[in-house]
Amino acid sequence: MSELVRLSKTGHIAVITICNPPVNALSPGVPEGIQRSVEAANADSEVRAIVVIGDGNTFVAGADITEFGKIVAGKAPPVSLAQLFLQLEDSAKPLVMALHGTAFGGGLELAMAGHYRVIAPGGQVGQPEVKLGVIPGAAGTQRLPRLCGIPKALEMCSLGEPIGAKEALELGIVDRIIEGDLLAGAVSFAEEIASRPFVKVRDRADRLAAPDGAVVSRSRDTAGKVRRGQTAPLAAIDAVMAAATLPFADGLAYERKLFEQCLYSVQSKALIYAFFGERAVGKIPDIGKDVKPLDIQRAAVIGAGTMGGGIAMTFANAGIPVIVKEATQEALDRGFGVIRANYAGTVKKGRLTQQAMDQRLALITPQITYDGFEKADLVIEAAFENMALKKQIFGDLDRITKPGCILATNTSSLDVDAIAQMTSRPEMVVGMHFFSPANVMRLLEVVRGRATRNDVIATAMAVGKKLKKVAVLARNCPGFIGNRMVFPYAREAQFMVEEGATVEAVNDALYNFGMAMGPLAMMDLSGIDVFAKIREEFKHEEKPGVRQPLLGIRLYEVGAYGQKTSRGFSLYDENRRAQPNPEVVALAASLGVSQRTFTAEEIVERCMLSLVNEGAQLLDEGIALRAVDIDIVYLTGYGFPAHRGGPMFYADTLGLAHVVSRIEALGWTPAPLLRRLATEGKTLTGE
Ligand code: 3HC
Repeated sequence: MSELVRLSKTGHIAVITICNPPVNALSPGVPEGIQRSVEAANADSEVRAIVVIGDGNTFVAGADITEFGKIVAGKAPPVSLAQLFLQLEDSAKPLVMALHGTAFGGGLELAMAGHYRVIAPGGQVGQPEVKLGVIPGAAGTQRLPRLCGIPKALEMCSLGEPIGAKEALELGIVDRIIEGDLLAGAVSFAEEIASRPFVKVRDRADRLAAPDGAVVSRSRDTAGKVRRGQTAPLAAIDAVMAAATLPFADGLAYERKLFEQCLYSVQSKALIYAFFGERAVGKIPDIGKDVKPLDIQRAAVIGAGTMGGGIAMTFANAGIPVIVKEATQEALDRGFGVIRANYAGTVKKGRLTQQAMDQRLALITPQITYDGFEKADLVIEAAFENMALKKQIFGDLDRITKPGCILATNTSSLDVDAIAQMTSRPEMVVGMHFFSPANVMRLLEVVRGRATRNDVIATAMAVGKKLKKVAVLARNCPGFIGNRMVFPYAREAQFMVEEGATVEAVNDALYNFGMAMGPLAMMDLSGIDVFAKIREEFKHEEKPGVRQPLLGIRLYEVGAYGQKTSRGFSLYDENRRAQPNPEVVALAASLGVSQRTFTAEEIVERCMLSLVNEGAQLLDEGIALRAVDIDIVYLTGYGFPAHRGGPMFYADTLGLAHVVSRIEALGWTPAPLLRRLATEGKTLTGE
């Protein structure tokens, strides 16, 4: 047998073990190995039943995604998983699939080709293919509804979220939960059923009654909301519905057709790129595995405002004790009150138990002194965006904390090196830029100062992972990766309103493109005052004679800060619903800029190209290590639509020669890197 798949025997039960770490994906050799093992077990007269189990932490977590690029239109793949699973299902001896970890995608499809499924209590099953822009392609859309009924299969295949062992049992996807040793339990289950007749899943029809139309249209609506703009979830719904109307073989052929259509789409390429990208950003070329992160047992946060409070919650959620320090008792009480209310809200929604809330709160120590800071391994400063204040805090921290303590700043745009200069340990200073709300947003920008030590960077990245964030490394510059790109993006959005577009047209165009919200809605949410203060901080960098937007500044001057004042680019009611703000129309008209109309395409192009041009510039300057780092920043921190891959991937899909010519048509100077790559016929992402 291949090394990827081992065959052994326990009494009369054959045990097939899949050994393809780290996730036992169905890479070339694995499915064939399983098939040969099943044949061998069938040929062995002593064997009465067969158990299939995964080695290590998991059963099969899916088809091997790295192989997807090799599936070419019009050419059947060397191994069709769907065909192979039919052969497995035809095994004369019963197949018991023993699941643990994540039986996802092709893994669940493999499991459903078996005649029985048992699962460890912590195991999960799911069809997450839509997250990669495809649908199940090895009969998942046909076998799953036969086990759990059409409505649940619609949900699982179109949304891609996994379910736990208990629910899988209740739904009929698995037959038993095995407490204790999974293999031993699976073997004894196999002995129990060995002589019983069994039914192949594909031959079952008892759960295939078509649901009424309302269920299907609700699935479509939900998929349209959760995965807005994506085609795979709707294809998954079509494929599952085919199970209700077509014989198994025809349903399978239909699934294959839809799977291939999805696989060859740009959306799927973008989502697969994003999947690997999220993992790639954690790998820093000049920081090898030999660089060990420092041990972070205790943390402290300066500031209990929105950011500080959210950061403290993130640490508590990860089980790390954290001190939160504020300047005054009043601010501290307010901040801790918000933390408590946030947790209580989650408990009320049923997503956290009261006991877990109490445990997490107990890990947070609110105080107005520096007591206990001498024991901290990491301090994150989350005070106001004011350089003088930050410098003072870092001077204090340098005196109070132990020499090995990492001093991090949560600044979103200020100079990390200037802050580090206030300490006697600039090599221990790093940027850790969380995004608001910090306990929810996945992005963490780690900022490498001139002197930051490699193990300090490795620690910040590792802490990010522990906090369940996606950590992306940036070099120090005003705004780092995300905000440096957002400035020109917000600038162009404002310019267009100054030139005659409505706020609503600008926001809608970008929302319909797939952004979580329009650029002006984003400014209203983040705070027009925040943008104004950052701009003030960097005024000295503005080139004379270069036009700057005035709208945001004018709104700031009249106290219209956005959502927090119910008035900004839009007006907001008590439910935060936006209405047009007539004040903005009047302000725009008073600026004396010549007015014209804009199409949605123009609006999208101008905003996107501003991101692309600045992103390419960042790459050239080495602020971002790779195009994928920029893309992951935008996907995880700025609501960029995942199915477009991020600004850099999107630019590649447009074609860089086209991008350069459109940037020139807008009267801007293309980043030199864009020109170079366009001339050489290359891409930003290498995809
Ligand atoms: N194929 C190839 N590589 C995979 C993979 C897969 N299906 N799943 C994970 N990997 C790789 C990761 O890229 C990573 O590689 P790296 O160490 O070189 O960066 C490594 O395995 C470990 O993965 P994670 O870092 O993600 O480990 P976690 O423990 O955090 O998560 C997981 C494990 C939940 C299984 C997660 O990796 C995951 O969600 N994987 C994708 C699962 C999936 O989408 N399956 C469906 C695939 S499509 C399919 O099956 C089509 C079928 O219908 C025909």
